[in-house]
Amino acid sequence: MKFVKILFLFLSLSLTAQQGGMWIPSLLEGMNEQEMQSLGSKLTAQDIYDVNNSSLKDAIAHFGGGCTSEVISPKGLLLTNHHCGFGQIQSHSSLENDYLKDGFWAMSFEEELPNPGLYAEFIVRIEDVTDKVLDGVIDAMTETEKQSKIDGNSNAIQKATQKEEWQDTRIKAFYKGNQYFLFVTERYEDVRLVGAPPSSIGKFGSDTDNWVWPRHTGDFSIFRIYADKDNRPAKYSEDNVPFTPKHFLPVSLDGIEEGDFTMVFGFPGSTDEYLPAVAVEQITQKVNPSNIAIREAALKVMDEYMKSDDKIRIQYASKQARIANYWKKWIGENQGIEKSNAIANKRTLEKEFQQKLKEKELESSYGSLLTDFDKLYAEFEPVNVKRSNFLEVFLRNNELMGAMFRLYQMEQAAGRGEETFKRAQESVQGRMKSAFKDYNVNVDKGIFKAIMPMYTDKVDASIYDKTNFSSEEKTAQILEGNSKEVIKKINKDAAYKYAKPFIEEFYTKLEPEFQRINTEINAVQKKYMKALMEVVPDQRYFPDANSTLRVTYGKVKGYKPKDGMYYKPVTYLDGVMEKYVPGDYEFDVPQKLQDLYKAKDYGQYADANGKLPICFLGTNHTTGGNSGSPAIDANGNLIGLNFDRVWEGTMSDYNYDPEICRNIMVDLRYVLFIIDKYAGANRLIEEMHLVHPKK
Ligand code: ARG
Ligand code: ASP
Repeated sequence: MKFVKILFLFLSLSLTAQQGGMWIPSLLEGMNEQEMQSLGSKLTAQDIYDVNNSSLKDAIAHFGGGCTSEVISPKGLLLTNHHCGFGQIQSHSSLENDYLKDGFWAMSFEEELPNPGLYAEFIVRIEDVTDKVLDGVIDAMTETEKQSKIDGNSNAIQKATQKEEWQDTRIKAFYKGNQYFLFVTERYEDVRLVGAPPSSIGKFGSDTDNWVWPRHTGDFSIFRIYADKDNRPAKYSEDNVPFTPKHFLPVSLDGIEEGDFTMVFGFPGSTDEYLPAVAVEQITQKVNPSNIAIREAALKVMDEYMKSDDKIRIQYASKQARIANYWKKWIGENQGIEKSNAIANKRTLEKEFQQKLKEKELESSYGSLLTDFDKLYAEFEPVNVKRSNFLEVFLRNNELMGAMFRLYQMEQAAGRGEETFKRAQESVQGRMKSAFKDYNVNVDKGIFKAIMPMYTDKVDASIYDKTNFSSEEKTAQILEGNSKEVIKKINKDAAYKYAKPFIEEFYTKLEPEFQRINTEINAVQKKYMKALMEVVPDQRYFPDANSTLRVTYGKVKGYKPKDGMYYKPVTYLDGVMEKYVPGDYEFDVPQKLQDLYKAKDYGQYADANGKLPICFLGTNHTTGGNSGSPAIDANGNLIGLNFDRVWEGTMSDYNYDPEICRNIMVDLRYVLFIIDKYAGANRLIEEMHLVHPKK
């Protein structure tokens, strides 16, 4: 008996050590399937991904390309995060109908709100097309020749792929270009807003709690997919009907306990787990710090205006959240890289790699990779840092400069003929028009003054008093006409004159230099990836995230953030009340929620101890893009909604450490409780399939 126990301990030890990874859903058979089952899963690889029968993957949709969502009813009800639907909720909001502040609930199909530009995209099937993509690609070619061969092959494969006329295809590189997969996709473009809690629930804790545990955010919103009469993708139309999915996720009312199996199924955006030490050093010591400083300065201006003026608060809510999110992430990432000794550990691995090359007599093939990296990254540093700062200042934080950037692109388009110009013109007109709804020139000018000095010593804020582009009317006038007229007009404008030399420098110097060196780095990285897998084969290799559908799995589990501390994996409504600060912009609690708390009126959503769970932690390896991903139990039921990671593990995009990397999920019982008890939107609960798998 004792012996068996020891053996078991060994087995589970080696299993917990082996964690992390975002796996390709069509390749789960074998290692992943076994590992999942050893963690408690009852699912087979086919339950998760199947081409011939409906499977879990048919319930998962890429939400607008940046988040994940899942179908939770036979009528196309779609669940995602509040922060994923934030742009839509915000765009329907005004001072009269402040859905950000008060929430929004459609009480009938008719009240569901259309969202132009938003889509939900499903994966029909996945195929390994590596051999065909790399056919004819040989070492003797230059990187440009290789890429053009790869592009040619990819086009041919896509043309030859059998698919329905409303479906699309896409080919993506995996393992740094050592493997390629084809995706057949189906994109639904009529996705309507159905429900959103007030920000005091959906964004509870806001920036203070963002990236942090313990967490108490009800980060969810609800949409619905509409299709044409044949259930196929269609542009918005009044005649469209609720979509019937191939599969929708049943919702578990039994919740989770520490140790339970969880799987997160979604579209992680991008990770870089196989970078050399020198690259991680550059990112954390050069790129992140200057970008953090730029955003910090911009946020300071924005925050002040937002707190003093309700109109500005609504106008800038979405922009502020986007900028604040990665500002804080980079800070956490830097701390985590340092604390986990990631750079030193990578150097150790690199020494070991070099040593093994010698033993295996592979030095002639791979011996120079690491010194190549050193040389390339040294050359890369000034270009990489400056380009990244340019993007922050000109495209992400200052709106006037961003507009000038698009005008510059339009001017370039004019050089390619009147037709090309017309298209660019229309797109700029559209973007500028919608931007004015949420534009405040004082905020933007303040940001300009705060951040421009971080990019250049030529700062001239007087352009804000001279430019025509701060007026919607004048902007429309300037943009009207043929290419000659429009180009002449914009070149007379003070803001355009100011911005143009910087943008020109970006296009003629920064960007080409960046691309040239980056192409070389990528070529070395591709070889290094291959070499690592060959030379150090006992490591755990999973492909970096690339916005394609992935499965990651683990357990509900707490963690030790610091010496002497342990974080439990579940939070409760009691914790919301502990954090409550009346009237605060981050920690206010709606009266109705307080009343429900006082009455302990949790209905069927309380746990066995009569408490209402809010969020929980898991060891699932997630990243940006996984927001809105379903957390699925051992039987394929929905138990949670992924939305964040913990502060100490934010560096998981470069260095996944199973000891402290955790993903944060909202407990689905809290979501249902809010829909039902708080909002009274019972019609939505009735559509769902609620189950009790543990009873
Ligand atoms: N940190 C989460 C993610 O990366 C949630 C962000 C939304 N919340 C916010 N305060 N910006 O997207
Ligand atoms: N909050 C992220 C998202 O929006 C998820 C994460 O980075 O963990 O996708």
